[in-house]
Amino acid sequence: MTYKKKLIEVALPLDAINAESAREKSIRHGHPSALHLWWSRKPLATARAVLFASLVDDPSAHPEDFPTEEAQERERQRLFHLIEKLIIWENSTDKELFAQAYEEIKKSTGDNPPPVFDPFAGGGTIPLEAQRLGLKAIAADLNPVAVIINKAMIEIPVKFQNKSPVNPVAKSLLDAEWHGTRGLADDIAYYGKLLKEKAYADIGHFYPKVTIPGIGQKAVVIAWKWARTVMCPNPACRCEMPLVNSFWLSKKAGKEAYLEPMMENDKIRFEVRYGKGKVREGTVARTGATCIACGASIPLSYIRNEAKKGCMSAQLIAIVAESQGGRLYLAANEEHKKIADMPLPEDVPVGDLPEKALGFRVQEYGITKYSQLFTKRQLMALTTFSDRLIDIREQVCADGGTKGYSEAIVTYLAFLVDQLANHGSVICGWNSPNQQLRNTFARQAIPMVWDFAESNPFCRSSGSFHSLYGRMCEAFQSFMPSGQIGMVYNASATADLNVGSVVLSTDPPYYDNIGYADLSDFFYIWLRRNLKEIYPEIFSTMLVPKKEELVATPYRFAGSQQAAKEFFEQGMFDVCQNIYRYATQDIPLTIYYAFKQTDMDVGGTTSSGWETMLSAIIQAGFSINGTWPIRTEKPGRSVSIGTNALASSIVLVCRKRPADAPICTRRDFLTALKRELRPALVNLQQSNI
Ligand SMILES: C[S@@+](CC[C@H](N)C(=O)[O-])C[C@H]1O[C@@H](n2cnc3c(N)ncnc32)[C@H](O)[C@@H]1O
Repeated sequence: MTYKKKLIEVALPLDAINAESAREKSIRHGHPSALHLWWSRKPLATARAVLFASLVDDPSAHPEDFPTEEAQERERQRLFHLIEKLIIWENSTDKELFAQAYEEIKKSTGDNPPPVFDPFAGGGTIPLEAQRLGLKAIAADLNPVAVIINKAMIEIPVKFQNKSPVNPVAKSLLDAEWHGTRGLADDIAYYGKLLKEKAYADIGHFYPKVTIPGIGQKAVVIAWKWARTVMCPNPACRCEMPLVNSFWLSKKAGKEAYLEPMMENDKIRFEVRYGKGKVREGTVARTGATCIACGASIPLSYIRNEAKKGCMSAQLIAIVAESQGGRLYLAANEEHKKIADMPLPEDVPVGDLPEKALGFRVQEYGITKYSQLFTKRQLMALTTFSDRLIDIREQVCADGGTKGYSEAIVTYLAFLVDQLANHGSVICGWNSPNQQLRNTFARQAIPMVWDFAESNPFCRSSGSFHSLYGRMCEAFQSFMPSGQIGMVYNASATADLNVGSVVLSTDPPYYDNIGYADLSDFFYIWLRRNLKEIYPEIFSTMLVPKKEELVATPYRFAGSQQAAKEFFEQGMFDVCQNIYRYATQDIPLTIYYAFKQTDMDVGGTTSSGWETMLSAIIQAGFSINGTWPIRTEKPGRSVSIGTNALASSIVLVCRKRPADAPICTRRDFLTALKRELRPALVNLQQSNI
């Protein structure tokens, strides 16, 4: 079978792609990922370069135009130069540049580029970039949260592009131009502000300012710091002992602050100290806890039992406020303790945590329902914002928006409720080095957090509605919807979606690394409450469907590693068979596969993830024509510390194997791969690629 070689099968400007991909991970403002969190998103720059280079012919495929190697190399360099410009973040909405890229793609695809399909679309990176390149994008994911994110990325913005906003302020602007997503973004900004005002009118009084002692002035609270407590088992003590991981409040040079515990009438209270004093060790660690009052050592098993009996409480230990001179740390006071002690709001979303799941630790401490991941005040805020979404829908229609448009606006605002949940749960910690709240998913896990920080959604600091909403509005600046509305399916990649002949580019789940379905229930319970009327099919189940999720977790198979492995292997094989059915002959497909440090270790560690993926690809009838190591993950994330976190991805470039291809055994192939992959990766890592 003859086909034209594509650029990705010959060469890539890898240094530039890696550098831009790494840089993109630090971009805080204007990135589409600000719409909604998803785990292990790939950089847009990587997806953009991979798609372009998969579609554009390598100059060697046109000897009539480029007869010599020099001529081919010159042409390749021209294409490299174009890729190097395309991947620069600041060029993401450069229409002329992307029109030029589209012309190149058309030239290599007989003026009729096929659609791009990603069956594991997740946070929507690949479909979004396909659309940016002017291609029809088809996204699918089993997970309803991912499906909604993809709709918000490739469907809604195209449907409502180039439309004037309906809000009354925008209507009064006579000369305004509403290209692309500007109108939609303007309405989200307007109705987002209205949502906050409505919620504040309902519950703002539950977030009082704090009086600065000695000065008498009032300051806006950023966060309340709480510590879990259990009763000390020492019969002579019996104090309610606070479990504090760290007494530091600020480690910022010159602004150090910490808490000093004080005993008072058998009770422990905390005073704030500024400067570099002698800060006590935390009272709880992995090995156990210590009672501040009597010094007794307490095993974690005791704390687990107390917590499961419902005997774990929380004590307010400090208040963090905003001041002109920076963060202000104040001791807890009665007013602020009392106001947080409110009745449980009605109509909180129901849902049980899985008995066991990857990275979930809280169940051992009696937290078995999603609603227990929030304080009563956090639940009140989330339910209030959720309830007010109904008013917003009505208001958009009253202002002249169609029903469909009001639903689109509410979809994005429901994402803001999710963002508030991410920044407002009992899993949020206080990061003393940078004096900021740490969000729930600082790691891909739900760990037990002993001293958690409860943010004030109505302040203006990170984690507040104001800052999250600001980031969401900015995210639209990086959208460049094309003429074709993206298609989004809620389906398993193991099912035949009958998508026709497409270019396949995808990033499948990596073996047992991330339990997407379990993690995303944290958001699903809120999205379902807020959007099930709009998307009844997507939110038809109480929780995210888990059965078909491709993850090799023994928790789903009564603890059996073997059963989990077999399920993953069979699933990946079924997926690759489907992919074989959809893939066009003349364009290679690209599969991103995560690469962990242990994948490189010789002897000892086997890499089930890689073995499974490679054997599924080959058994389905593909050949692997190229492998490109790409730095897709941000180095130094908190999950990577001491864990086998994802370091990078290898992009596998595959083609349907010709019927007359030479044969080698799977074992021979894997041996050759193991032999060649490791030195290649070492070389690339040494060159900082
Ligand atoms: C590595 S993530 C994709 C990330 C995405 N490329 C991005 O940049 O955001 C893998 C995705 O596969 C999805 N998934 C897992 N099992 C699936 C199945 N059986 N069918 C379809 N999607 C599945 C997960 O929900 C997850 O979103």
